[in-house]
Amino acid sequence: MADSAPQLRVCLSPALVPHQRLDETTVVVIDILRATTSMCVALDHGVDHIVPVASIEACAALKAQGYLAAAERNGETVEGFEFGNSPYSFMRDLRGQRLAMTTTNGTQALHAARAAQQIVIGAFANITALCAWLQAQATPRVLLLCSGWKNNPNLEDTIFAGAVAERLQASHRLADDGAVMALTLYRAAQADPRKYLNRSSHFQRLIALGIQRDAKYCLRGDTHPVLPILVGERLVDARRVTAAPAGI
Ligand code: MLT
Repeated sequence: MADSAPQLRVCLSPALVPHQRLDETTVVVIDILRATTSMCVALDHGVDHIVPVASIEACAALKAQGYLAAAERNGETVEGFEFGNSPYSFMRDLRGQRLAMTTTNGTQALHAARAAQQIVIGAFANITALCAWLQAQATPRVLLLCSGWKNNPNLEDTIFAGAVAERLQASHRLADDGAVMALTLYRAAQADPRKYLNRSSHFQRLIALGIQRDAKYCLRGDTHPVLPILVGERLVDARRVTAAPAGI
């Protein structure tokens, strides 16, 4: 792999973001169970934009301004909010709607990476669209940021990062041990993904909460070929972002 190839790194926890370079870097925020999957579902069902916020208070403030508001903590819907974080709750006509979201890990990870040159959302739901878009980017660095669980690494986000590394290894240089670890884990899990993901603590947490169908849905590939990208404070589908008019 030529040294001039874009570098691909994997950050296994938001707690490690302060030790990462974010300048000239495209960050892919990953939270398979369930935040980034749900974001793909909502945008694919027409929501105009999503404002990911770190706090429940900020989510409530946007709700007061007429936003649909999704608030999840520890896998459960926060009292007083219409939406938690089930992808199924966004499978309806959301055209013209605005959505505020705060989740246990995914929205926190996104805010931890705010200094990045660009931030996009990755999930199995949009993996092919995501990898095609990444291969067309010119940033010299790509950082796959695993949201994990309360700053601890988890299986599902790391396996997904490995799946992306597998697809990008012909065009990107795996530049840290995190990328090699993720790729190794993905290849080990490929033979029987369900066996590995059944061991995921959050997969088990969701089963205990009686929402196993969410967990199963989040593992399906290419169900929602959107490319959520952060523009200012808003996540929008990059396919809908037209180029800014040239000059006046
Ligand atoms: C997270 O932020 O880790 C997830 O959204 C949690 C969940 O939805 O169960």
